[in-house]
Amino acid sequence: MTMTYYTLGNSGLRVSRLALGTMTFGTEWGWGADRETARAMFDAYVEAGGNFFDTADLYTGGTAESWLGEFIADRGLRDRAVIATKFTFNADPGNPNAGGNGRKNILRAVDASLKRLGTDYIDLYLLHVWDSLTPAEEVMRTMDDLVRAGKIRHVGLSDVPAWYAARAQTIAELRGYEPVSALQLEYSLAERSIEHEFVPFGTRHGAGIMVWSPLASGLLSGKYRPTQDGNAGRLDGFRNTTHPGFQKFTERNWAIVAELEKVAAELGRSMPQVAVNWVATQPGIASVILGATKLAQLQDNLAALDFTIPTELRARLDHVSKTPPPFPYSFFGSEIQARVTGGAVTGDKPSGYAPPLLVEGDAVSITSR
Ligand SMILES: NC(=O)c1ccc[n+]([C@@H]2O[C@H](COP(=O)([O-])OP(=O)(O)OC[C@H]3O[C@@H](n4cnc5c(N)ncnc54)[C@H](OP(=O)(O)O)[C@@H]3O)[C@@H](O)[C@H]2O)c1
Repeated sequence: MTMTYYTLGNSGLRVSRLALGTMTFGTEWGWGADRETARAMFDAYVEAGGNFFDTADLYTGGTAESWLGEFIADRGLRDRAVIATKFTFNADPGNPNAGGNGRKNILRAVDASLKRLGTDYIDLYLLHVWDSLTPAEEVMRTMDDLVRAGKIRHVGLSDVPAWYAARAQTIAELRGYEPVSALQLEYSLAERSIEHEFVPFGTRHGAGIMVWSPLASGLLSGKYRPTQDGNAGRLDGFRNTTHPGFQKFTERNWAIVAELEKVAAELGRSMPQVAVNWVATQPGIASVILGATKLAQLQDNLAALDFTIPTELRARLDHVSKTPPPFPYSFFGSEIQARVTGGAVTGDKPSGYAPPLLVEGDAVSITSR
């Protein structure tokens, strides 16, 4: 396979289209990989040409960052590696300022991450989750200070409302701060909500989308079945919980799994490869973060971009996974547009112009990343 690289958002940072997720580095959460397996996956990823590593300060209680830093140092790869890590979650129960997105926590968290990673700079530093409180002004000013201090190179936002990301980007532009180069969001055949706001925002305003959970936490691998109640993998441990990231056993998702299985069989590819390929080639996607707990899984997924999904098969995947657009997107269709243009025929712009933002209720028709 040949790993290709994109510049992330409007930045000059070149990242591989497949990133390596490290949320599964460490057994602390009950469903991760031990050190030997994590190292084997790291080596396989590097040997496949990957340069983009995603971690977070509190993945597996800090083990993920520590192992990643050690593996990178051991192979002498710090200059080649692009390290993304994140802050927000609380590191000290009972202390409200040891979590969240305020300046005090960001400055605490960045030093702790640098120490665990064994490096003196982070390539991409991301706010992990919106704390529903801290103004974007405080976050963006603090991030810009960290860029100027040489502790981080680029800025990203993960799991925030689109309006918050847009506001943060506008503040950065108007105040001359380092802009948001990346958005990290859940996206897969099973979870397509980001298409309405984040993809148009990211493509128009310079933020490349890093996809997390491209297999919907393993659902799209095909290992789970509607009738089964066993121990297939990570999702089984969340069957009786309300954790928002893991509620995947729905009628809609079973229909997607069934169609994906048929399409994968017709292509002669594994279901994970087809699911990763589909999401990686959607508009606005800069990089897909692969997750795995076994070397064989990662090796399978690393071959996900070695083929093209033919149009007819892609249309079947699009159709089964499509969700009706929510208001106001449901309101912007051809009937309303005809009233906007007064019935005049409006064609596509000549090449070189940005394409239209939305095609009625469908994926956006933007190809830049
Ligand atoms: N920003 C955020 O809020 C956020 C949230 C979540 C994740 N992330 C990032 O995204 C990365 C990927 O997320 P994810 O782990 O949820 O991704 P995912 O691809 O949706 O799920 C990975 C899981 O799918 C199963 N799997 C993967 N490849 C397989 C294969 N070829 N065959 C069979 N099963 C396979 C494994 O499950 P089993 O282990 O059960 O076998 C694996 O642990 C994380 O490591 C992290 O870096 C970010």
